[in-house]
Amino acid sequence: MAVTIKKVGVIGSGQMGNGIAHVAALAGLDVVLNDVSDERLKSAMATINGHLSRQVAKKAITEDARKQALNLITTTGTLDGLADCDLVIETAVEKEEVKRKIFHELCAVLKPEAIVATNSSSISITRLAASTDRPERFIGIHFMNPVPAMELVELIRGIATDDNTFDTAKEFVGKLGKQVAVSEDFPAFIVNRILLPMINEAIYTLYEGVGNVEAIDAAMKLGAHHPMGPLELADFIGLDTCLSIMQVLHEGLADSKYRPCPLLVKYVEAGWLGRKTQRGFYDYR
Ligand code: CAA
Repeated sequence: MAVTIKKVGVIGSGQMGNGIAHVAALAGLDVVLNDVSDERLKSAMATINGHLSRQVAKKAITEDARKQALNLITTTGTLDGLADCDLVIETAVEKEEVKRKIFHELCAVLKPEAIVATNSSSISITRLAASTDRPERFIGIHFMNPVPAMELVELIRGIATDDNTFDTAKEFVGKLGKQVAVSEDFPAFIVNRILLPMINEAIYTLYEGVGNVEAIDAAMKLGAHHPMGPLELADFIGLDTCLSIMQVLHEGLADSKYRPCPLLVKYVEAGWLGRKTQRGFYDYR
């Protein structure tokens, strides 16, 4: 039986974390947003306010709803601040050791009946669940970027995830006004299993000189009606995240068709991670 979530914790206040906090607060839930520095939290709150104000300007929500949503979000610099949440969603970087460390510290303070979720875009849910004290109350809740605009959320059960946890997560996603796609626990799940090889292939197309950045993006926008070109989308997702997902596919499925393009590796080594560092396939400086 589903348990109703009243208070949700979000670990990480980057583009995914602040987007989840935004939609959860708009749905009337209490939200506690956690990150390692006050500066990051302040910047996340400013981003959320900016996106809410844009929705007000577009008449998608009322000014009262904007204020109410902001009032429902509190911030905390420590995982202790999430102790009384019913559900905590982790949105840290796609590095397994970082996530494991967070879960270890989180589970020590969290009430035993609380559900722990990861927004991981590719890592095995079963393996992450096994690193916690509650594999049966652990689940993948994978949002798409930008969270307020995208309708889909993938739900991924680990081998031990129980029915209550799955039903609760499904009800929570429904409350946020999103649609659920259920994925089995395979590398990169459904969306990224399909999307990332396409993006990687676009990078190979650039690497091999088949077309330049503008031609590749225009080709897919105008020729396949994609809302963003694949290279623009890669910059938007973050090139480090794109590389991590391709590595998970390559290692997990042991097939050379998932080999990350050397140009993607080089850009990440250069620290050109896309929009967040103001340089990727495009220059945002
Ligand atoms: N943050 C929050 N909301 C945003 C946003 C942002 N960065 N950018 C746009 N939006 C919202 C706007 O507020 C607007 O909302 P309303 O409909 O409520 O008014 C809506 O998105 C549409 O925005 P615009 O009309 O300004 O812009 P657009 O028509 O150019 O659409 C877009 C923008 C929705 C981002 C569109 O370009 C798009 O769909 N791009 C593809 C995005 C995509 O493929 N995402 C999936 C990435 S894969 C992933 O996330 C999985 C993973 O693990 C890597």
